[in-house]
Amino acid sequence: MQPISDIQILDNDLKRERAKEKGVDPEELDRPKSGYQEIDGARSVFIETYGCQMNVSDSEIVASVLRENGYGLTTEESEADVVLINTCAIRENAEQKVRKRLSMLRADKRDRGRDLTLGVLGCMAERLREKLLEQEKLVDLVVGPDAYRDLPRLLNEADESGQAAVNVQLSKEETYADLAPVRYDSNGLSAFVTIMRGCDNMCSFCVVPFTRGRERSRPVSSILREVQQLVDEGYKEVTVLGQNVNSYHYTDDDGTDVSFAELLDRVSRVSPELRVRYSTSHPKDCSDDLLRVHRDRPNVCNYIHLPVQHGNTEVLDRMRRTYTREEYLDLIDRARSICPGISFSSDIIAGFCGETEDQHRDTLTLMEEVRYDHAFTFKYSERPQTYAHRKYEDDVPEEVKQRRLEEIITLQRQHAAESNKQEIGKVHTVLIEGPSKKSDEEFFGRTDTNKGVVFPREDYEKGQYVRVRIDDCTSSTLLGTALETTTLAEAAETDTIVA
Ligand code: SAH
Ligand code: SF4
Ligand code: F3S
Repeated sequence: MQPISDIQILDNDLKRERAKEKGVDPEELDRPKSGYQEIDGARSVFIETYGCQMNVSDSEIVASVLRENGYGLTTEESEADVVLINTCAIRENAEQKVRKRLSMLRADKRDRGRDLTLGVLGCMAERLREKLLEQEKLVDLVVGPDAYRDLPRLLNEADESGQAAVNVQLSKEETYADLAPVRYDSNGLSAFVTIMRGCDNMCSFCVVPFTRGRERSRPVSSILREVQQLVDEGYKEVTVLGQNVNSYHYTDDDGTDVSFAELLDRVSRVSPELRVRYSTSHPKDCSDDLLRVHRDRPNVCNYIHLPVQHGNTEVLDRMRRTYTREEYLDLIDRARSICPGISFSSDIIAGFCGETEDQHRDTLTLMEEVRYDHAFTFKYSERPQTYAHRKYEDDVPEEVKQRRLEEIITLQRQHAAESNKQEIGKVHTVLIEGPSKKSDEEFFGRTDTNKGVVFPREDYEKGQYVRVRIDDCTSSTLLGTALETTTLAEAAETDTIVA
């Protein structure tokens, strides 16, 4: 699996900009992820996943439901009996991309007389079901994110009746807690574990509460069971997932209330050699308890994806993020004082409704103050149903949005390069994920703080923790030399991460 930073949002504007610079076709980067682990079955299914990590994790649930019902998984779309597209609706371009893909598949089915069942899953399902089914007649199946258990029945119904089958019902309870995800596109080392679904936050720009419904937390015991199983299978890293993991809460069997900090602590105790990450953390309720878990548990990584979205308090208020610029900066200070050396990444939106030039500059100055290691940056894209769509005007001209986005990207790139330079001479514990993209003679891995490192592979092996001395860097990658293998327990004693 690619580094988490690359798949966070597959239609990330920043990634597109970078691709253009490197002369890579941005569409190449938008290539959907597809399964490589073939599974035999009576009918073969091909799953394409767009969007965020939650969607990647959901596709693993879909694979599990289908496998239990006798379906196989294929890596070849052209050989599949069923093609399922797990869709994203976060920005307009994400939706357009999926539409284009559906039209292609539909044409293929029609022109070649191919016996293919074509389904839309995920975040576009509820919103676009009528359009997809009636107006555009693109698909045979539309299934929302809470209805995946119903897939086998819906597939039968579509095949038998020749009519489209639909279930886009959102649930207040479904967490798929009892299903064992099939990690069909995994490197065997890093896995996502979904701990909650939906979102109750209602940020004014965001469509997720409408596409995924109410927030609900998965039982602690089922999360710990899944993590234990991953450890038993040799996994070395888990990323626990939710739209806002900080609002995780579950009343345990013995009546104790389990917060996210408590859950993270328990997950980290499953194995001292398992790295634990999480995404996404909402700044409004990132507690000191949570920061102390970062400090006290050596295998909880010193890295937080803490999306700020904007640097101006008035804009944050209109975004309904419920924190001010000052509160966010205080949180960063608090985190750094509780857990020195902790690193941050962010999501930033350029050109939100009514954003003035001064307000935009506040985003740049906030970035200067925080100095993110990484940022996912987006032009505001108006989404139907949202509060912003109903109440505000999308009034920042496209070329202004673009220019502001570019200013943010340029600054972020500068910060990332400077932050990487500061690593030269330090030694980091790196989990070896596999060969680097460029050469089989080099390994790629990540530091505790989520920076990518490339180094000569020598006799080391995928899945080992190694101490790597950083010798050089590019703006996106650290370059180093492995010194010796290590364990996380040992690393806690010897690392020089702390600045
Ligand atoms: N739950 C996460 C975010 C999930 S969506 C959180 O609250 O941090 C991922 C990112 O997409 C958001 O953080 C935001 O930066 C971006 N995004 C969401 N809606 C958007 C919109 N309408 N236009 C542009 N970017 C958007
Ligand atoms: Fe969207 Fe806000 Fe929920 Fe994140 S917290 S998913 S941005 S509504
Ligand atoms: Fe994720 Fe896109 Fe849905 S970002 S939650 S797949 S709208």
